[in-house]
Amino acid sequence: MQIFRSHHELQNHLLSEKEKGYSIGFVPTMGALHQGHISLLDLCNSKCDVSVVSIFVNPLQFNNKEDLAKYPVQHEQDLSLLRQNSCDVVYLPERNDILGNEIENIHLNLGDLDQVLEGKFRPGHFDGVVQIVHRLFKIIQPNIAVFGEKDLQQVAVIKQLQKSFYPDVLVLVAPTKREPNGLAMSSRNMQLSDSGKMKAAAVFDSFLMAKTMFNSLPASKIIDTVTKKIKEHGLEVEYVSIINPETFKDLNKTDKKNMKAYICCAVICEGVRLIDNYCLTDD
Ligand code: PAF
Repeated sequence: MQIFRSHHELQNHLLSEKEKGYSIGFVPTMGALHQGHISLLDLCNSKCDVSVVSIFVNPLQFNNKEDLAKYPVQHEQDLSLLRQNSCDVVYLPERNDILGNEIENIHLNLGDLDQVLEGKFRPGHFDGVVQIVHRLFKIIQPNIAVFGEKDLQQVAVIKQLQKSFYPDVLVLVAPTKREPNGLAMSSRNMQLSDSGKMKAAAVFDSFLMAKTMFNSLPASKIIDTVTKKIKEHGLEVEYVSIINPETFKDLNKTDKKNMKAYICCAVICEGVRLIDNYCLTDD
């Protein structure tokens, strides 16, 4: 596994790999890696000759300074996990190597996507994601890039970025990995105590309950029940929504019959903000 701190050196290396006819797969991360990230890397390795993982805690996507300051950083563990899981190349830049103004910002109109759920509760978050992924795509020029379904709205944003600016990159989405108790794997779980991890599992339990109610009850009733159940476990609820994943708008009655529907939520557990989502309809 080769580790690059300079994007120029990374680019030279990847250029020579491409000249040999190798395809490049890319998994962007903010580090503090877990089995969820490894499932993205596995998918990447199964589709491409050379896998590239980036590790960079992107300050542009944090609207809350405290949240950024406490984001877990553990490079040694991350590198050893990547080594054990057949990663070929790691890009681990210093702030200036990636955010220096060599690559210019782009403007991507996200429309309503930036006004609801994560867009509403974390102003500027998606623009920060767009700017960093744009820089990473520009440097790495991958054939495919893999993202996790746990960040469902981020996936929609990235697909818009891909369509507008990177039509040759294939974006793949890997399903959410969960702990045995249902808690969605996330780097932020490292900030929870054992009892916090147990409490946070109420989110998935309530999603399963929502699925059983989906065909018989209106969305508003399901949202109320889920919110109540999550709060009973001592979590704060920022939002619970049932949305049409094409538009991210609240599902309305006319949608309900033939549409896919996802339940999405953001909760606070022991001061840690967690998001999760679950498909309520069958494929
Ligand atoms: O999903 C993440 O970890 C981040 O949002 C990403 C895509 C690495 C951009 O910083």
